[in-house]
Amino acid sequence: METKRLSPNDIETAAHIIAGGGLLGIPTETVYGLGANGLDPGAVKGIFAAKGRPQDNPLILHIPEESWLERYCQDIPQTAYTLARRFWPGPLTMILKRRDLVPDETTAGLDTVGMRCPDCALTRAVIAAAGVPVAAPSGNASGRPSPTTAAAMLEDMEGKIQAILDDGPCRVGVESTIIDLTVTPPRLLRPGGVTLEELEEVLGRVEVDDAVRRLMTPGEQPKAPGMKYRHYAPKAPVTVVKGDPDETAGYIVARMGERSGVLCFDEFQGYFRGHPVETIGPAADQAQHARRIFEALRAFDRLEVTDIWAQSPTDEGLGLAVTNRLNKAAGFHIIALP
Ligand code: TXA
Ligand code: MG
Repeated sequence: METKRLSPNDIETAAHIIAGGGLLGIPTETVYGLGANGLDPGAVKGIFAAKGRPQDNPLILHIPEESWLERYCQDIPQTAYTLARRFWPGPLTMILKRRDLVPDETTAGLDTVGMRCPDCALTRAVIAAAGVPVAAPSGNASGRPSPTTAAAMLEDMEGKIQAILDDGPCRVGVESTIIDLTVTPPRLLRPGGVTLEELEEVLGRVEVDDAVRRLMTPGEQPKAPGMKYRHYAPKAPVTVVKGDPDETAGYIVARMGERSGVLCFDEFQGYFRGHPVETIGPAADQAQHARRIFEALRAFDRLEVTDIWAQSPTDEGLGLAVTNRLNKAAGFHIIALP
């Protein structure tokens, strides 16, 4: 199949692909997604096949506005509306009790479903025109870093999807925050563009799922099935070094091998001359770290590196989402300097 490139004037063509059961690359503010009609089991199976995604990993549904929530969810708590009014459209996915019309193929048999209203007017217009909720995981092949440009998505999906709608690079760069509202207190399953601190302002106490900060041991089940997989990983092994940036840079310089790659803050690039280096922005610029992290990880696969050393951002605010992705890419191989 030839994958068509669509531009922002092609809303109708894009909606047609979704309504017809096809696969469409969709832009969002977080990462590009691999979209299909979330009510059509056949279309949803196509998503799993194109990504090579394990069948037990549920998909989230994208809707153009809050009023669609009741179509697919029931027993919706008041907090869902409060969060929607504060953060939608935006990078927040809420886990809610599903209605029966949402097929098992979409939710991997769970009685809950993740709901998200993306902050991308183009994609919301496509969903509204298609008239169905769009199931969309990140548009990478399973296990690879998520794509933040149409070109990155095509590296993995060329020839496997009908078309991709190109709306330029993603503004946030890491996937949405996932909050489970079916439990008390609400539980953060994946950190993302809406920070834990922002959620706590609205919800009070929020439990942070263990899978956010550490590796699951064999047999342990994180609440978001996708969090158990080694993920976002470049081919070469990654070691994350945590601590004051001056110290971590010095630590890495002293230990790196001849063909080691380094992921570092802009200010420290000069330490690693002669090595393949990917920068993720100034140490203090968390928004830039989020926008850069996946492209930086992907870039190492195009370079000949034996291993990768990474300076770790701190984990307050948006940093929790960035360190979660980086730590997962490293299989939680982390060195914490005193
Ligand atoms: O920003 C995003 O959320 C992007 C864009 C495309 O919208 N989508 C995305 O989808 O990241 P995906 O499939 O790559 O990640 C969704 C995560 C997975 O870890 C999955 O296991 C979890 O959400 N998930 C989905 N439905 C769930 C449910 N009912 N209960 C718990 N976790 C769920
Ligand atoms: Mg994903």
